[in-house]
Amino acid sequence: MPEKSFDNKPLKDALTATSQAVERLMDPILAVPSGPEAKVVEAMRYSFFSGGKRLRPFLVLASAELYGVNKKQALRVAAAVECVHCYSLIHDDLPAMDDDDMRRGKPAVHKAFGEATAILAGDALMTLAFEILSEEASHPDPNIRLKLIKNLAQASGHHGMVGGQMIDLSASDHNLGEAEIYRLQQMKTGALISFSVEAGAILGHASEKALSSVHGYARDLGLAFQIADDLLDVEGDADEIGKATNKDADAGKATLVGIMGVERARKQANILANQAIEHLSDFDDKASLLRAVAHFAIFRRT
Ligand code: IPE
Ligand code: IPE
Ligand code: MG
Ligand code: MG
Ligand code: MG
Repeated sequence: MPEKSFDNKPLKDALTATSQAVERLMDPILAVPSGPEAKVVEAMRYSFFSGGKRLRPFLVLASAELYGVNKKQALRVAAAVECVHCYSLIHDDLPAMDDDDMRRGKPAVHKAFGEATAILAGDALMTLAFEILSEEASHPDPNIRLKLIKNLAQASGHHGMVGGQMIDLSASDHNLGEAEIYRLQQMKTGALISFSVEAGAILGHASEKALSSVHGYARDLGLAFQIADDLLDVEGDADEIGKATNKDADAGKATLVGIMGVERARKQANILANQAIEHLSDFDDKASLLRAVAHFAIFRRT
């Protein structure tokens, strides 16, 4: 898809390190029990340990670093948000939703384990996220833990991801304009990305001013990221991205690519990525990976 390819070694290394750290943390948490409920945990593991870019965990860790947050705490929050993300992907692929057979280069969870188990694995990954946040190891201050729990609940539920998914599913029946598509994308994808960036600031007791700059960054990044996802649906390579392409137009999805065309949508993604970076002007070199990830969001090939 991109005219320009993305190559930033420090960011690639940071994404790999994030993935390894999150997987190390989650391996014992997702230990398979001996009872017959083992199947749902196998499905949770299948989803969680199936790769993925780990963008949201990376954002938690990178923003936490801006505020000098303890890495172990940040990693737990990073893992929690990835649990919610994996749940959203499992349910997004269900026949009742996008009806997709492939995810991250493998059969979707409902293909590998059946629909009922996929629904339960998604449910359990979601509740596991909140269990992780509620534990003292995530932050010694219970007020901070509660704020994380509340913000993740809002970002995931009907004000955020679930609400956006509802609009996404009904959009083929409506004729959405540009502003409405932005709102849909902000909810379905932007909200979890914003939570990820803001979580670092919450863990680090950031000032309101610092919080509002990262908020602006996260908002523009989330929108750029979803436009890139929609561009990959049109221009990406199914083997490379690990999921089917050319699905959105067939399903009548409301996307900016659909209403603006590829060229304008790509320009819009560029503008948003650059705007995201401008929001970080108060931060010095410490924010260089967050700047790089804004380019990664739009020039990525997967
Ligand atoms: C895909 O998210 C679904 C969207 C919200 C666009 P990602 O592109 O982050 O998926 P993984 O985690 O890398 O597989
Ligand atoms: C999914 O958007 C957003 C979620 C909340 C999971 P898409 O339906 O476009 O994501 P893909 O293309 O299946 O990954
Ligand atoms: Mg979808
Ligand atoms: Mg989908
Ligand atoms: Mg998509």
